[in-house]
Amino acid sequence: STGFITFDPGFKNTGITKSSISFIDGEKGELLYRGYPIEQIINQCSFIETSYLILNGELPNTAQLKSFSEKIKKFNSIHKEINKILDNIPNSYHPMGILSSLTYILDAFINSLREEDLYLHLLAKLPILAALTYRKKIGVPPTYADPHLDYTSNLLKMFFSIPNQSYELNPIISDALNKILILHADHEQNCSTTTVRLLGSAHAGLFSSISAGMSALWGKLHGGANQAVIEMLEAILKSGGNIKKWIEKAKNKKDPFRLMGFGHRIYKNFDPRAKIAKKVAENVIQQLGISDPILELAKEVERKALQDSYFLEKKLYPNIDFYSGIIYQAIGIPKEMFTVMFALGRLPGWMAHWKEMKSNKDPIGRPRQIYIGYKKRNIKKN
Ligand code: SDX
Repeated sequence: STGFITFDPGFKNTGITKSSISFIDGEKGELLYRGYPIEQIINQCSFIETSYLILNGELPNTAQLKSFSEKIKKFNSIHKEINKILDNIPNSYHPMGILSSLTYILDAFINSLREEDLYLHLLAKLPILAALTYRKKIGVPPTYADPHLDYTSNLLKMFFSIPNQSYELNPIISDALNKILILHADHEQNCSTTTVRLLGSAHAGLFSSISAGMSALWGKLHGGANQAVIEMLEAILKSGGNIKKWIEKAKNKKDPFRLMGFGHRIYKNFDPRAKIAKKVAENVIQQLGISDPILELAKEVERKALQDSYFLEKKLYPNIDFYSGIIYQAIGIPKEMFTVMFALGRLPGWMAHWKEMKSNKDPIGRPRQIYIGYKKRNIKKN
């Protein structure tokens, strides 16, 4: 460090705030949401209960959960102008760009001043925006939320219901979606969450802060990795399944290619979410009776990478993104929408951190730098 400034690119060793939302033990491969291990939450809670826990600090009792769900349903429609804006966005635009743009402009149509309501608006409206984005992509007319369904069943119906056909809810798919959304709900100061906190620290609005978080998540090194994993596995299949060649490519410093879905800034052991996601992927594929060569290939890539000294020495294990895409694909969601699903899962975490940053009264985020430019000099015009 130079005097009082510590050089720490990527904030690898910098605690930028105090938080009580989630805790990660990278050595042990542990993740807690408000103190509860992810392994307990995944088996005993729904995504909406987990959202309540992350936002409010405690699990809801029956009455609290009922009122939380009812309040969200109160806000489960969007202004018709949003549909017109969506109609004018080129269909070729990536769903993450569409989602973050629509989230930004949502602000113009929300007139609730109560901050608590803003969180409920986003929980209700983001699944609608995601479903409308998906339906635009596949050329199916827009749809509306179904207030008689629970959160994830409504989300699935908004995605997949076809006009004039009844939509069969499949509990296997609904359960898998619940679980994968729970696995994404929060993850302390990852790049997109810190982005949301940074904007909030300047007193930017909630919607613009969340929209910025989505933009950070879109990056291939972050949430965009789940789509990149499937594209990598498809490329390995297409090129004859020679896993060793791809692993060597990922180890080659001259090659920018990295084994997508591997490595993590904090987990120097297995990402506990990847372990759970692998089991959810195996179950949903087995229960739906679909054979998916990509899952078999993913397990083979994991096995081969974890036999390789480069990955073991650098402690590169599968992260959440390595198996999540296989689950999304099994429930019918195409790879361009994977990072949108990550955003739907991470929403409660982003909002809880934005709320905590305000209650902490965190100062505006303004890091320093190590200046390596010119010393002071005078303009000499010839
Ligand atoms: C998410 O932060 C979070 O919590 C994120 C997340 C969340 O829930 O919000 O968990 C979600 O973003 C998971 C990560 C998804 N991204 C990927 O799977 C992309 C591939 N992974 C890498 O790009 C990388 O591992 C990162 C971005 C995840 C972590 O980067 P770091 O911590 O900055 O690690 P690094 O780039 O400094 O790597 C350390 C070493 C380097 O080699 P050396 O320079 O020491 O010789 O490991 C190598 C890297 O080259 N390395 C890899 C690798 N990941 C790291 N080599 C090959 N393949 C990889 N995947």
